[in-house]
Amino acid sequence: MINVTKTHLPSKEKYKKYIDEIYANGWVTNNGPMVKQLEKRLAKYLGVKNVVLVANGTAALEIAYRTLDIKGVAVTTPFSFVATTSSLVTNGLLPIFADIDPDTLNIDPHNIEALITPHTSAIVPVHVFGNACDVEAIDKIAKKHNLKVIYDAAHAFDVDYKGESLLNYGDISTLSFHATKLFHTIEGGALIINDDNLVEKARYLINFGIENAESIPELGTNAKMNEFEAAMGLCMLDEMDTIFQKRKEVTVLYEKELHNIVKFQKQNENASKNYSYFPVIFKSEEQLLDVKQALAEKGIYPRRYFYPSLDTLNYIEPKQYCPVSRDISEKILCLPIFPELTEKVQMEIVTVIKDHL
Ligand SMILES: Cc1ncc(COP(=O)(O)O)c(C=O)c1O
Repeated sequence: MINVTKTHLPSKEKYKKYIDEIYANGWVTNNGPMVKQLEKRLAKYLGVKNVVLVANGTAALEIAYRTLDIKGVAVTTPFSFVATTSSLVTNGLLPIFADIDPDTLNIDPHNIEALITPHTSAIVPVHVFGNACDVEAIDKIAKKHNLKVIYDAAHAFDVDYKGESLLNYGDISTLSFHATKLFHTIEGGALIINDDNLVEKARYLINFGIENAESIPELGTNAKMNEFEAAMGLCMLDEMDTIFQKRKEVTVLYEKELHNIVKFQKQNENASKNYSYFPVIFKSEEQLLDVKQALAEKGIYPRRYFYPSLDTLNYIEPKQYCPVSRDISEKILCLPIFPELTEKVQMEIVTVIKDHL
């Protein structure tokens, strides 16, 4: 069975050494040495100032909103994983959707300004499939209207924009380190915080709001990463070069074989690629379903990322309508991409697609 992704498990020997260390010091969670080490190494690796590790990417979004005191309405994208929107709703915020650009698949900055009202306090864009948003246009709008920007950068691990980390844009960027991601810690996530003064607040918030044994200055939650997860991250970091190289090879082959047959996501030319996903857009949902069925018959399971469009969620009021996002959602399929994917299986996938179009 071939799924859209396969968790990369790094060297077992190396992981065992970290586990031995954890057993020796008995420190399994609560901001332990592995978490501290991973935060330091990630900050250096990614080229960012402050990394706060958390339990998952959804918690990272929630902590970001609370660190920045976001209230009322946030303008966001309807084309994302559900957590971008649900994290707003569970924090008492109203998501208002700005439709996407049909080529980049990211929020279209031209659609943002008309949706801003006195109740709006933030913009929450997503670097969809690791493709950098138009960060300069979004920045300009945010400054003009005094809004905070939280980038859901769950897919944008190690993407550079004009030579520096993309994660340095906005007030906070959040990452997901779920097992399905390019870089993972089994479950996990991180906040990349630009303002040094906000880092301590985020740290209280992930630890029940506790500052020290006698002071609880914030209303917090429990969103801590544990030591076993951080150890996995430390092992993964050592293997990123090979992981990127393999994913690049998979991408190049798909691009070569399919460029005249399906539509690809238009990449931001100022940004690097991290090869985290390989989305293809069909002419119609019918075509997509045909191909999906044919692949399933061979035990190959691509994913309908992202489907459905988030403006169709039944728990969002008022009802909203984003025609571009709905249209793309119906026609887009993410093909399998992971370091161990063989050329043979990839060619099988390519052949099925070619045969059905
Ligand atoms: C765009 C996006 N945002 C947020 C998340 C949530 O991350 P997590 O699964 O780590 O909670 C995901 C996860 O898969 C995602 O793809």
